[in-house]
Amino acid sequence: MEQAQWALIAGSAGGLGEAFTLLLAEQGFNLILADRDEEALGKIVTKIVTKYDIKVVSLCVDLADENAWRVCMDAVRDAGCGMQDAGCGMQDAGCGMQDAGCGMQDAGCGMLVYCAAMSEVKPFLDHSPENLNRFIDVNNRTAMLLVHAFAGYLRDQKKPGKILLMSSLAGLMSPVYVTPYAASKAFLISLSRSLFYELKPLQIGISVCCAGIINTPKFLESKAHGDIPMADPLKVAAYAIKMCGKKAVCIHGFTNRLSYFFISGILPSALASYFVNRAMRKMYPTFSR
Ligand SMILES: NC(=O)c1ccc[n+]([C@@H]2O[C@H](COP(=O)([O-])OP(=O)(O)OC[C@H]3O[C@@H](n4cnc5c(N)ncnc54)[C@H](OP(=O)(O)O)[C@@H]3O)[C@@H](O)[C@H]2O)c1
Repeated sequence: MEQAQWALIAGSAGGLGEAFTLLLAEQGFNLILADRDEEALGKIVTKIVTKYDIKVVSLCVDLADENAWRVCMDAVRDAGCGMQDAGCGMQDAGCGMQDAGCGMQDAGCGMLVYCAAMSEVKPFLDHSPENLNRFIDVNNRTAMLLVHAFAGYLRDQKKPGKILLMSSLAGLMSPVYVTPYAASKAFLISLSRSLFYELKPLQIGISVCCAGIINTPKFLESKAHGDIPMADPLKVAAYAIKMCGKKAVCIHGFTNRLSYFFISGILPSALASYFVNRAMRKMYPTFSR
């Protein structure tokens, strides 16, 4: 009997996370979908179980919460063990499972995609300390604890697997007005660079995908000025899935790769920052006044 793999997607109900959900569903993965938006989760679960013959567990969880990684890992451990409910027991957890009755045996969870992020465009000094903490909580603390627990689970199960972290060109280029976001994304790049070699002997492939601007509701919310080229979320997600485990750091889009090559390898760093920041000031002119 064919074995169905499970994948956990953290930040799965909207934007790029929705694209990951759709693509992995299409590839036949059973899915554990973690997101804080219960309504959006409900919609995406209905959409995929109607279209694909897969099982889905939905976890309504705020990934900023201290125990969010435990909630996700409880669902991961249950995947493939005849689980009926992830039983996360958190406030607002609202776990539920829909089984499309695909009749396959489960092979457990072999893939983690960490897509959720706190992101906000504004001058650094306009952030509150609480806001700054949230960048660390969602983008770094839960991400690292989940990677640690998930890789440990794979090692203990003697199971090969993949871990995909979503980062951004901002994490490589450190532009103005997204300082805490860019710093938190640089953290993920460093995490993947180290772990790529540390986890390789365990047959665990980890990659971080750095994307440029993507056409998601979150980016559109930032009200950037100008005619900005935006990548299609489905194309970014497809590229990230394809590259996962092949390279520690992968950059989506030829133009982005070329820009990064010039900025990191050819231009002096002050000149590189000048060009990157000039582009940001054009996109967000109100902050430069
Ligand atoms: N959009 C871009 O231009 C761009 C560019 C480069 C890299 N990226 C990266 O790509 C990823 C996805 O970006 P996106 O624009 O699609 O962002 P997004 O919509 O904010 O995030 C994707 C999903 O994660 C959820 N999420 C966010 N914070 C959460 C939390 N604390 N707990 C649980 N779920 C949470 C979102 O729910 P809510 O809708 O409720 O927030 C959404 O459903 C991020 O890691 C981002 O850094 C984005």
